[in-house]
Amino acid sequence: MSQEKRLILDWTKAHDVFPIEKHLSNETNNLISAKKSLLSGKGKSPEFTGWVNYVKEECPNILSSIKKTVDTISNHSDAVVIVGIGGSLLGTKAVYEALTHTYASINQESFHRKPILFWAGHHIALDELSELLDALDNYTPSIIVVSKSGGTTEPALAFRILKQYLEDRFGCDEASHRIFAITDPQDGTLLKIAKENNYPYFPIPKNVGGRYSVFTPVGLLPLAIAGINVTEFVAGAVQAFDDCTSEKNHSIETNPALCYAGIRNVLYANKYKIESLCTWTPKARGIAEWWKQLFGESDGKENTGIFPASANFTTDLHSLGQYFQDGERHLFATHIKIQDEYSLLKGSIKRKIKIPESNLKDGFEFLAGKDLSYVQNEAQQGTFLAHSDGKVPTLVWELPELNAWWLGYWMYVNMLACGIGGYARGINPFDQPGVEDYKNNMFALMGKPSYADKAAQIKSRLNTGNRLRSLGLTSK
Ligand code: PA5
Repeated sequence: MSQEKRLILDWTKAHDVFPIEKHLSNETNNLISAKKSLLSGKGKSPEFTGWVNYVKEECPNILSSIKKTVDTISNHSDAVVIVGIGGSLLGTKAVYEALTHTYASINQESFHRKPILFWAGHHIALDELSELLDALDNYTPSIIVVSKSGGTTEPALAFRILKQYLEDRFGCDEASHRIFAITDPQDGTLLKIAKENNYPYFPIPKNVGGRYSVFTPVGLLPLAIAGINVTEFVAGAVQAFDDCTSEKNHSIETNPALCYAGIRNVLYANKYKIESLCTWTPKARGIAEWWKQLFGESDGKENTGIFPASANFTTDLHSLGQYFQDGERHLFATHIKIQDEYSLLKGSIKRKIKIPESNLKDGFEFLAGKDLSYVQNEAQQGTFLAHSDGKVPTLVWELPELNAWWLGYWMYVNMLACGIGGYARGINPFDQPGVEDYKNNMFALMGKPSYADKAAQIKSRLNTGNRLRSLGLTSK
């Protein structure tokens, strides 16, 4: 009989450091009412809680509506540049990096056979963008530009540059068949551009904010093109919806979203101000980036909130490990452990690596014949124990496998936990007023017409006061 597979949130090694259980039971009623507010649309910004039911109600339609475009793009492109920033990109990148061959671009024929995804519009750095343009010369690419507002500077500029690239290379007519948009279905500049140029476009629903949008076309279209099993990805999320939103399941023991939200709030209220999501494969770095945006933009309100950080182990045990063990005690760690580790990407066989016998005499003979994942497991157990001994509350998510279904399940649980935990703490997890401040300054400084009044004031603030600088002695 096959073993039952479940998502586990193990908080034993957090409780060993701080008596969470007692605090958590005091929090339970507050968490349950936060959950009810989220589900009934009675909390703050209910107009942005459409993602809660979307996985169940809308995803099946979306999966069939994207099918034709997936085929079209897969037939005429061997690469697709996803142009977007924040929630318009991070979820897609996370799932893509976790579930496709890391070296697909080196040997697409044998490692991937599907269009490779590249990323743009998530920075304004000319070096990386120029190098992307160089790389694209080796492919026959398309572009998917993703922006809910349709007016975000970084993707707007990258899109201009990439559109020009396609037009120079393929001519205007063919270029226009290689451009696709994902945006607000009713308003915005990108929608207008898509309509005027006959670019096929897909909706980001009005009631779904960027960081909660991975199960909309934002994530589903590019991931399907890249050959990820998006039906499974959605199925995992739907199961998490059924498990965690049910009226009958208000128990911390059986509702990981409620439990995680509660533990985070308890630890935060007790001086643990930084949470590090610790992943154990370089392929999961993108997952941590998605998670940081989800919690950072949702939680960081009214001068409060956990600072979400990340570490990738065992790599970072050789850098941040010292701080985890011995630095200031204001940190807790949330690990993602994959129970059954394998690589599936060359063929469909679950590939493991055995440590070979060797004549090296390097002191590691005792490991010969063991799976590498055995070593990983022992490293994890050793780290959880050492860090909790060092007074770092240590939570462990255990995912049975790193596949589309379990990623869908885990990501949706985290979205729920973020919404519930935010409401329970009394903040609004669905707005992001803070990110406007840098944009206002930037627009004024760049001379955006409607910001002319502010420009002079900002420039004078930048130029007043003493220059406090330290200069290297050598000039070249
Ligand atoms: O979560 C959010 O709302 C933000 O991170 C946005 O996704 C990000 O700012 C990009 O915005 P847009 O999709 O409007 O370009």
